[in-house]
Amino acid sequence: AIPAPPAIFSPVRENARGWDLTDPDTVDRITGSAFMGDHRWEMAPEGLSGPVQTLTNPARPGDSPGSIRQAARSDVAPAVARAAAAAQAWAATPVAERAACLSRAAALFEAHALELFALAAREAGKTLPDCVAELREAIDFLHYYAAEAEEACAGSEARGPLVCISPWNFPLAIFTGQVAAALVTGNTVLAKPAEQTPLIAARATALLHEAGIPRDVLQLLPGDGPEVGAALTADPRIKGVCFTGSTEVARLIERSLAAHAAPDAMLIAETGGLNAMIVDSTALLEQAVRDTLASAFQSAGQRCSALRIVYVQEDIRAPFIEMLTGAMDALRLGDPRDPATDVGPLIDAEAQADFAAYVASAAADGRLIHRTDAPSEGHFLAPTLLAVDGIGAMEREIFGPVLHLAGFRADRINAVMAEVNARGYGLTFGLHTRIDRRAQDVVDRMEIGNLYINRNQIGAIVAAQPFGGEGLSGTGPKAGGPHYLPRFRKRAGAGPAP
Ligand code: SER
Repeated sequence: AIPAPPAIFSPVRENARGWDLTDPDTVDRITGSAFMGDHRWEMAPEGLSGPVQTLTNPARPGDSPGSIRQAARSDVAPAVARAAAAAQAWAATPVAERAACLSRAAALFEAHALELFALAAREAGKTLPDCVAELREAIDFLHYYAAEAEEACAGSEARGPLVCISPWNFPLAIFTGQVAAALVTGNTVLAKPAEQTPLIAARATALLHEAGIPRDVLQLLPGDGPEVGAALTADPRIKGVCFTGSTEVARLIERSLAAHAAPDAMLIAETGGLNAMIVDSTALLEQAVRDTLASAFQSAGQRCSALRIVYVQEDIRAPFIEMLTGAMDALRLGDPRDPATDVGPLIDAEAQADFAAYVASAAADGRLIHRTDAPSEGHFLAPTLLAVDGIGAMEREIFGPVLHLAGFRADRINAVMAEVNARGYGLTFGLHTRIDRRAQDVVDRMEIGNLYINRNQIGAIVAAQPFGGEGLSGTGPKAGGPHYLPRFRKRAGAGPAP
């Protein structure tokens, strides 16, 4: 038999250590583990009395990775009380000891890699390269925050109980990054993972406990945002919230905190983006197409960094579209556990129905440039290219494999940049050009958190590329950068110690 060609998106993350997916034995170890088969996780975090939630593999409705007991609304107040009672002792624990817990957790994550890969694939629908990247990023956060802790904590105080609310699209990496930052800076944590991905968060929590984090210092409260999340952020004993998710929910949290918390309470929100790229006529077409493909469709577009609108100079619009749509047709959609899969499913049926309706309405308006095929089983959405006049015509973020394309004339490039700035999001931006002055122009003009020139615009790397946005895209400081941990502390003597 002729072996299947390798998957299109690079299986090797730039900082990958081990887990090289170009090595067939490694792939066999990952895909052949019992965790990738019919293993079930039955989780019951301590102190919870809500209903049992059963999870479904978004690519295979018949596959259930397991179940978990959720928090009831009435579980929230006692959990906050435990976190408040544990705050002082944890804040007084030497920072080196707290950092050592993170380092031990990193080793435990590595030791449990096969299990964590399988959870990322079967609970969150992540392709194998994304599973590896997910674990790498989680471990990077643990090591980086452990290394930064001593300096970040000097001359300041822990805040007290903090709430961490994490998203399903990086269910291990962002969960771990938030929680690790809050813990190592001496705060106790109430963690509310996304409704869609509580199992992997529960495994991560168990490993953090095993690494030495006391149970009352880190408590997991899986459940619905409007129930459990809202009760947590409304509790007057909490001293801040670290949130990644929609701009809309960030605003609710801000209001909830404003109603009860001190003016210096912490709110870190990493929210959405309407990320753009400009491809001018000097760009290397093959490279621009490859980077557009990865930025828009890798992870099925379910990254806040993902490309939503590409502006292509009119002179090269036709060949760009021809090459891009050809490349889109070569993408393979399928079970994320299959190493040949390029694009996995959307997270759930709701997302699938929502974006399918969005694409149908754009198609009815005559804006469909190209759509590929999607499997009929599972929550898939075919990679789609839509025509649009510009970012001003885009009402909302589409968190899936839907890319918009707008043409521009050479003399309008500054107007395009102004238009993107005016839309108000500022997460990622890409430029493909061979004109150095133009690259400098973009650096000077764009109000953006992460700017990428002549490369794809996803996959920021902890410590090397601190990640975060401006404007509607978030409050800062950037995760994985030197300003992040200090925000989890307050000035010494700035109010009663926790
Ligand atoms: N950190 C992620 C990325 O850079 C966020 O989506 O892609």
